[in-house]
Amino acid sequence: MEVERVQTIAHKSKNTTIPSMFVRSETESPGTTTVQGVKLGVPIIDFSNPDEVKVQNEIIEASKEWGMFQIVNHEIPNEVIRKLQSVGKEFFELPQDEKEVYAKPVIGSDVSSEGYGTKHQKELSGKRGWVDHFFHIIWPPSSVNYSCWPNNPTSYREVNVEYGKYLRRVSNKLFNIMLVGLGFEENELKSVADENELIHLLKINYYPPCPCPDLVLGVPPHTDMCYITLLIPNEVEGLQASRDGQWYDVKYVPNALIIHVGDQMQILSNGKYKAVLHRTTVNKDETRMSWPVFIEPKPENEVGPHPKFVNQENPPKYKTKKYKDYAYCKLNKIPQ
Ligand code: SIN
Ligand code: FE2
Repeated sequence: MEVERVQTIAHKSKNTTIPSMFVRSETESPGTTTVQGVKLGVPIIDFSNPDEVKVQNEIIEASKEWGMFQIVNHEIPNEVIRKLQSVGKEFFELPQDEKEVYAKPVIGSDVSSEGYGTKHQKELSGKRGWVDHFFHIIWPPSSVNYSCWPNNPTSYREVNVEYGKYLRRVSNKLFNIMLVGLGFEENELKSVADENELIHLLKINYYPPCPCPDLVLGVPPHTDMCYITLLIPNEVEGLQASRDGQWYDVKYVPNALIIHVGDQMQILSNGKYKAVLHRTTVNKDETRMSWPVFIEPKPENEVGPHPKFVNQENPPKYKTKKYKDYAYCKLNKIPQ
C-alpha cells in the first residue's frame, strides 16, 4: 500500500482547502488552545559557564520542574549544525520517487524501524499530523545500519556521522549530570545506563507549509518515550509545551539544543524527573524542520524505577519492563 505523503498533500492543497483528516476540533486546534502573545521561557543553560556546579544544578532543577530546557554554547560547531540541516533539507527536496526508495514498511509493529515515513495510523482523535519523517540510528556503531541512511546528497553520511560525534559529547555529559543529580555515584553510572550502549536514534521531522496552520498540528501532544531527547530545529518556530494545563509556544533560541526529559528518565527516577508534554504547530508559508535525537535503552533492556528510589514510603510508580515492550504499548496506545 502506498501512503500519500504530507509533502505531496501540501503541494496539492496550496492555496486551497486541506483534507478533513488533518483538521482538528476546537478542543485540539492550536488556534483555539494556544496561550497567545506569550513565549514560554524554558530555562536556558550555558554549557560554557566555568561554574560547573551551577550548570549541574540548573540541569537538575530544570529536569524536575520543567522536563525541558535549552542548552547554549554546547560546543557543537554551528557549521556542523548548518550542514546537518542542509543535507536533511536536500534529501526531503528530492523527487518523491527517490525518497520512496527509503520508505519504511507500512504494515507491522516494528516500532523502531528506520527509514522514510508518514504516520498513517490515525490518532485517538481520528486525525493525522501534518508531518513526514525519517528515522535512522547514529550510535552505537554496532546498531547503525548505513543501508537505511540516504545516499543522496552524497555528503549525507559524512555530515551525520560528524554531527553524531559532537552530539554524543553533549548527551554523555547531560546523562551523567542527570544521574548524579539523582544521587548516583560516578562509579555507579555504567551499571544504571552504560553510555556506550545507549541507542542514539535520529529523526528528521519535515513539516511542509499548510494553508490553515491554526487548524492542524504537526506532531500531536505526547511525551518522548526515550530517556532524553536532544533536538535542533530550523528557524521556523513551532514547538509548544504544556505548562499548568495550557499550551505555550517555546521561544526559538538560535543555535540552542533543546532537551526533553522522556518517559524512561521519569520511570528510572520514579517520578523525580518529569517527562515534558509537547506538540508542534506548522507554518503557513515556510517549511519547518527539526532533528531530534532520542537517547534510548536497547530494545531488550529493562527499565523500571531504580531500587534507590523505592521504599516503604515511596512505592514504585511505574512497572519495570523491556524497552521494546514499553514502546509497543505506547505506540499502540495500550495502557502500560
Ligand atoms: C517531536 O516532538 O517529535 C518534534 C518536536 C519538534 O519538531 O520540535
Ligand atoms: Fe517529541
